Amino acid sequence: EKGGYEHFMLKEIFEQPKSIHDTLRGRLLVDEGIIKMAGIWDHLDRISQAQKITIIACGTSWHAGLIGEYLIEEFARIPVEVEYASEFRYRNPIINENDVVIAISQSGETADTMAAIKMAKEKGAFIYGICNVVDSSIARVTDAGSYTHAGPEIGVASTKAFTAQLTILSLIAIKLGKHKGHLSNQEFMRLITELDALPKKVEEVLATTNDITKEIAKNFVDAQNFLYLGRGYNFPAALEGALKLKEISYIHAEGYPAAEMKHGPIALIDENMPIVIIAPKQGHYDKIVSNVQEIKARKGKVIALVNKGDTQVSAMADHIIEFPETSECFSPIIASVPLQLLAYYIAVFRGANVDQPRNLAKSVTVE
Ligand code: M6R
Repeated sequence: EKGGYEHFMLKEIFEQPKSIHDTLRGRLLVDEGIIKMAGIWDHLDRISQAQKITIIACGTSWHAGLIGEYLIEEFARIPVEVEYASEFRYRNPIINENDVVIAISQSGETADTMAAIKMAKEKGAFIYGICNVVDSSIARVTDAGSYTHAGPEIGVASTKAFTAQLTILSLIAIKLGKHKGHLSNQEFMRLITELDALPKKVEEVLATTNDITKEIAKNFVDAQNFLYLGRGYNFPAALEGALKLKEISYIHAEGYPAAEMKHGPIALIDENMPIVIIAPKQGHYDKIVSNVQEIKARKGKVIALVNKGDTQVSAMADHIIEFPETSECFSPIIASVPLQLLAYYIAVFRGANVDQPRNLAKSVTVE
């Protein structure tokens, strides 16, 4: 049932070209120049006229929500807040009938997310669900929604569900952006053509980075800490990369926006600190170059995720992982794949049980 892979997690990482394709299937019609999503279409006015969108989720789904905020604000120009469901439910948040709440949950059974939905419903908000498990409790309680169609995810560490969530959020943001007139036809076509190319690019990144990440992982089996840095859309990708590492390898890892480094974490950097930095060409590249210079001046060990043909960051980095170029807004979908592989191989070399890490359950049905 692991399809020849040693662990479910590795199988699920490798399933991503297909799972992203399945998420897009029937929704992204490039030839016709449309995005078809029944859940959005049936409630188009309600959603597109929302005064505010609040995204609620936990863990990896919360990281997807952060990227969703960037996507929806950039393309649909609707203000978005992203909240941990566990905080939202206990703090009497300002939510009313004009609000839309998007709940993201792979399992559709997370207790805190469910409780947060119920509270938002009582306040009159319209609830849109993004779930992977069909007919799950959250999918049933929401007013409308989209399934991610990533297929069953068995590994406790979420991988393909995350990239599928990002794919759905991209579709929603671009669809709303087009409907609200914030995206020209040309820009819309450019974005959907890039979305359509993602499964192929993810296939490419798997083929080109699997062996490299495995080799790099061998250097960090005894590391005690890791920093993950990114800017813009790749800041949440850094948070997610750090979460993957800590949950399966038990190495302490923190994600940070690269520019925040100088407000504290830079004090941690010495020759023993590995720093993963996401540095795509599209997305504040020059600023990232300066961050890498600052890290190297303090002898930190840099593992850089760069686009093919990169020179500046690569010249300074200790280890380089190349991934195919795409628009900044989609780059977390591609960059996450080598980050998943890196966490996976470090954990495997440490002898950890990657599919069932200690103290964790696949769905957190208690608060
Ligand atoms: O099923 P959900 O998406 O609601 O689960 C949320 C978190 O419990 C989950 O993402 C958790 O953080 C994963 N173990 C991350 O890999």
